[in-house]
Amino acid sequence: MSRSFDGRIVVVSGAAIGFGRAIAETFAARGAIVHGCDVRAPELTALAAATGAWTSVVDLTDRNAARAWIAGVEADAGRAVDVLVNNAGGVAGQAHAPIETVSDADWDRVLEINLGAAMALSRACVPGMKAAGAGAIVNIASGAAFKASLTGVQAYCAAKHAVLGLTRQLCHELGPFGIRVNAVAPGFVRSNEAAERQWAGYSPERQRQIVEGVALRRLGAPQDIANAVAFLASDKASFISGEILSVNGGH
Ligand SMILES: NC(=O)c1ccc[n+]([C@@H]2O[C@H](COP(=O)([O-])OP(=O)(O)OC[C@H]3O[C@@H](n4cnc5c(N)ncnc54)[C@H](O)[C@@H]3O)[C@@H](O)[C@H]2O)c1
Repeated sequence: MSRSFDGRIVVVSGAAIGFGRAIAETFAARGAIVHGCDVRAPELTALAAATGAWTSVVDLTDRNAARAWIAGVEADAGRAVDVLVNNAGGVAGQAHAPIETVSDADWDRVLEINLGAAMALSRACVPGMKAAGAGAIVNIASGAAFKASLTGVQAYCAAKHAVLGLTRQLCHELGPFGIRVNAVAPGFVRSNEAAERQWAGYSPERQRQIVEGVALRRLGAPQDIANAVAFLASDKASFISGEILSVNGGH
């Protein structure tokens, strides 16, 4: 494995399980000093033990906590964050409900995790990146950033569409400072227990349709997503910004 991120400070939100865990492992294996946060303490402890990553329990719906986490990372490192991966997200345990029954609290929570957290962490990392004249931000969007979500959760689909807007706007705002902003849009991956429950909720016919809707006729794995994130964050992508890279086996 190449040590292409040797000594770089890489921050990953939602690092405890699924894509976030694979992303944290991938950067750590390439020599990065990885800082991961999540609300899942035991899984963060497991990540730290397996990779040497620094981990913190942070609820990213609390924007002050998000800001304080990045300030702590910068203080520990003695310098700016090199790479920010806004991975925390998901449907917060929700399933489709008719729009007329969706509560404000459920709507707000999904927006906070998928969009608000990405804004708050970007806002916190950018001053250091600007001072350094370099940085890379990779946002995790979704196939639901382009069309209706398999989950049926309206707030999730709306938030992931908005993540593309945030990516494109920040690309232009931050490009003059040497900061690149891109997104990865994963297709459906059986990445954790929630995704397994979602998959199990589909009939065999629906499962077959989903797989047959993929050109490669299989679902992806968390490592497929992590590889794309590592590429966009790397020097090999030094002239790529504002791009949305679908990692979905071909749709
Ligand atoms: N699994 C898929 O099929 C799929 C497809 C497209 C996009 N995505 C997106 O990829 C990302 C990772 O998805 P996943 O399937 O690996 O896991 P996930 O969607 O279940 O959750 C991601 C991580 O975010 C953490 N998190 C949730 N709320 C948080 C909060 N308030 N503060 C801090 N951390 C919090 C979770 O604990 C989890 O570790 C998410 O943004 C998700 O929306 C997933």
